[in-house]
Amino acid sequence: MSKANPVVAIAGATGAVGREMLLVMEQRGFPASQVKALASGRSAGRRLTYEGPGASGIYGSGEGYVEVEEMTRSSFAGVDIALFSAGASVSREYREAVLDAGAVMIDNSSAFRMDSDVPLVVPEVNPDDVAGHNGVIANPNCSTIQLVVVLNALAQLVPLRRVVCSTYQAASGAGAAAMEELYTQTRQFLEGEPLTIERFAHQIAFNCIPQIDVFLDDGSTKEEWKMVVETRKILHEPALALAMTCVRVPVLRCHAESINVEFEAQLPVSVAEARAALEAAPGVAVMDDPLTLEYPMPGLLAGTDDVYVGRLRADPSVQNGLAFWSVADQLRKGAALNAVQIAELLL
Ligand code: A2P
Repeated sequence: MSKANPVVAIAGATGAVGREMLLVMEQRGFPASQVKALASGRSAGRRLTYEGPGASGIYGSGEGYVEVEEMTRSSFAGVDIALFSAGASVSREYREAVLDAGAVMIDNSSAFRMDSDVPLVVPEVNPDDVAGHNGVIANPNCSTIQLVVVLNALAQLVPLRRVVCSTYQAASGAGAAAMEELYTQTRQFLEGEPLTIERFAHQIAFNCIPQIDVFLDDGSTKEEWKMVVETRKILHEPALALAMTCVRVPVLRCHAESINVEFEAQLPVSVAEARAALEAAPGVAVMDDPLTLEYPMPGLLAGTDDVYVGRLRADPSVQNGLAFWSVADQLRKGAALNAVQIAELLL
């Protein structure tokens, strides 16, 4: 696939990430010749606002849209790039149909991320890995993307020895319906009504849930496992020591992470050097001033594209350590934006 004006399908176009994919393509002027919005039969016929190249209606008229079609195996005829965000089982079900149509699948689900013939790509970190694809390129987990963008910048200074990270993940990471559940439960809580709990294992309003995805035999969760194995794959560091704790918090949008990095001991890294490396890194914005109480916060960064870092300080518990805090809009850099950036690499 190296067409200047590809036909792009968005599978899961009505979902939290799918809608953001349309918005990101529109904002970046992604040069599609046609955009097809695909979802379940429930959404067929719905019109989604889309003002970018490849829209239905007159481009630039202010009335652009794409009309949702029910996704079937024949939806991919003539498609060059298929951006998938409809869940892992849907990606597995349609992989063959996409490849048979000669399209490249950029998959936001976890279905193929760890397959040895599937590149797992963050364009600021390992863009060259795209070259080895066999028709499928995987978009990493949202929390992984945010983490590797900063780890990659720091690893340019001195190799990393160990990373400890706790996440504070927004409700929208579990989809549009989960975001709705946070709104509904918040209202129910304030009005003293019984809470409707469907999308999370427990109440999410006014609570934190230290479980994302299912539990594994070793007591960790699958989200924590994904962050470990995906980070190693993207950084090409199969032995990097990582310890993760993933927590769902009652935030609508933007994941936060508390990160402790230990560098190789013999090469000391100062906070100033780390800050300079982060300031120079593509896709990273440093927001860090204790005097003015400046640091990144999820409630204030929705709709942004960078990975923000702040609270930079030495970690005195190890010989050569750095502690910091990061926030990124996981629907954008953690999902839709990263997928569209991968599509841009294919042009
Ligand atoms: P629909 O809105 O028609 O149900 P989210 O991650 O926000 O929950 O969104 C999931 C997306 O995946 C939605 O666009 C949803 O469409 C779509 N989807 C879910 N199951 C299927 C399916 N079997 N075939 C096609 N699209 C699906």
